[in-house]
Amino acid sequence: MSNNDLPGGCSSASTGFPPTKVTMPALAEMKRQGKLISSLTAYDYATARLVDETGVDMILVGDSLAMVVLGYENTLAVTVDEMLHHTRAVSRAVRRALVVADMPFGSYHGSVDEGVANAVRFVKEAGAEAVKIEGPRVELIRALTEAEIPVVGHLGLTPQSVHRMGGFRVQGRSVDTALQLKAEAQAVAEAGAGALVLEGVPREVAAAITVELSIPTIGIGAGPNCDGQILVFHDLVGLSFTPKAKFVRRYADAGALIRSAVEHYREDVEHRTFPNDEESYHLPEAARRVLDSVGTEKKT
Ligand code: KIV
Repeated sequence: MSNNDLPGGCSSASTGFPPTKVTMPALAEMKRQGKLISSLTAYDYATARLVDETGVDMILVGDSLAMVVLGYENTLAVTVDEMLHHTRAVSRAVRRALVVADMPFGSYHGSVDEGVANAVRFVKEAGAEAVKIEGPRVELIRALTEAEIPVVGHLGLTPQSVHRMGGFRVQGRSVDTALQLKAEAQAVAEAGAGALVLEGVPREVAAAITVELSIPTIGIGAGPNCDGQILVFHDLVGLSFTPKAKFVRRYADAGALIRSAVEHYREDVEHRTFPNDEESYHLPEAARRVLDSVGTEKKT
């Protein structure tokens, strides 16, 4: 791959050039060249389009949508059909970024065959270019790779393990658990994963894993030394309703913007200042005169 083929922040919207499609091998190449990978979640057409047009490299249709879009307390309830529905909307919007679909809880926790069959649905029915699975499931990662489905691994604070972990807790804080995390990361990479999300781990552990692995690490709450970063879109723009986690940087207050717009709309409706004459359709002059005269005849 030549340097010119390499994605890395150039936005089709700002440059006017056709976008260079981001692929899983392109992410590995970015790591080799020391280019940091930007990644964000998106769950619908409008936000996926906006995110893609900024030049973000990877868009994850995360099962976090269970919480930020559907209002559940954790990610466990969202189904394969719901995830497919959102992945389709995102795929229709994205031209440049790599589209990764999150496999929801229960869709790969049984047999390997069932996991592969569910993953195939995300590629075949929803246009995903890779799937993400939580935990060191090396047998499944090997099978998915053999089935030509690129895999993003996910280790550390894996939200689908919330009950086992006893809450959303930072992982790998002791020597033993940090070493275990390093071994799991190595195993996930060796099984064929193309990238690895590291969530909620001490920055020193994430840094050590990043140096050791040949595949890129994408951090969330894992410090600045990963090969890339990911955040939940709603956290980034101030649209989530839970207290801000330590690792979130809020770049905008879209919640306040939307509240203000909707309040103005409601007031305008209540004061009959919306819609005004320019926002209304009109009859042609001749038809209006006829209708007026019919009205007048009826009155006389
Ligand atoms: O579901 C999600 O949004 C995720 C990211 C936070 C990595 O898994």
